[in-house]
Amino acid sequence: MQPGNPVMASTWSFSARGNAAAWVALASGGDPLDAVLEACRVAEEDPAVDSVGFGGLPDASGRVTLDGCVMRSPSRCGSACGLRRHLHPARVARLVMERTPHGMLAGEAADDFADAHGEPVRDLLAPAAREAWERWRASPRGTGDAAAQARDRSLRPVDTGDPAAGALFGAHLRGERRWHAHDTIGSLARGRDGQLAGACSTSGTPWKVPGRVGDSPIVGHGLYVDPEAGAATATGTGELIMGTCGSFLVVEEMRRGAAPAAAARAAVERIGRAFRIEPHHQVAFVALGLDGTVGAAALRTGFLAAIRDGRGERLEPPGFTLRDD
Ligand code: GLY
Repeated sequence: MQPGNPVMASTWSFSARGNAAAWVALASGGDPLDAVLEACRVAEEDPAVDSVGFGGLPDASGRVTLDGCVMRSPSRCGSACGLRRHLHPARVARLVMERTPHGMLAGEAADDFADAHGEPVRDLLAPAAREAWERWRASPRGTGDAAAQARDRSLRPVDTGDPAAGALFGAHLRGERRWHAHDTIGSLARGRDGQLAGACSTSGTPWKVPGRVGDSPIVGHGLYVDPEAGAATATGTGELIMGTCGSFLVVEEMRRGAAPAAAARAAVERIGRAFRIEPHHQVAFVALGLDGTVGAAALRTGFLAAIRDGRGERLEPPGFTLRDD
């Protein structure tokens, strides 16, 4: 472990608020896992963030399900998915890591586990998310025509660069074409002592088939942290990330000597080779090296990373984007 300057690197501009909330404790020598959980908590509680927690868009049946994971190292990680009664999946994932011999809990039993550990029960469906679902149900896309959705450019998450905005899904579009894409908070932190940690939290793809789980709660896909190599997190179309073990791939590139930006780029290029890219697809990786260097790469423009370090808070576009369409 190399001691040095603390840093936080999180996906999307809405994460700047969570980075700020976590920063003072991290900069004073706090645990990087506490920092990334704080970043997730802020996004999870914000009804304006339409891809995470309260405010997250529901599945095709109108129910919100939340997924998350945390990781310190290959032997210290935890995950919870398909939560329907608890707002903080990353926090439940930490309980799985710390209070069970297991790596992942799913569905109703994960909610029961959260109850047993004192997590408060919450209604997850925000009024605006319910209205968006009702509009979707009444629209031609509400018939569940997957092929039509795959061609729909408005499904792609786009960051307008306003940290106060929160909405990624068609925020640049008007009216009913909003609310048709998804994304995730992935947050990475390096403590003053050089320890790394990461967390992910998401409501998954809006209007997803009930039961669908994406990359975010799966170690190696939405998040990977190895104190011997670095940390990476992913956001975007989970199916593309899962097909390439995206975050694991980024960390393995760093293990072989790639800088974080080059490692993230390699994973994006792999996705570009492995999949036929549809108009709604977006994927971005944020990577954190052992020395605190941050790099990011994305499939397309419209992604920003929120970075906090001793120089302050800033939003950075990825160093590499595969496509400009
Ligand atoms: N990246 C989040 C998801 O696909 O569920």
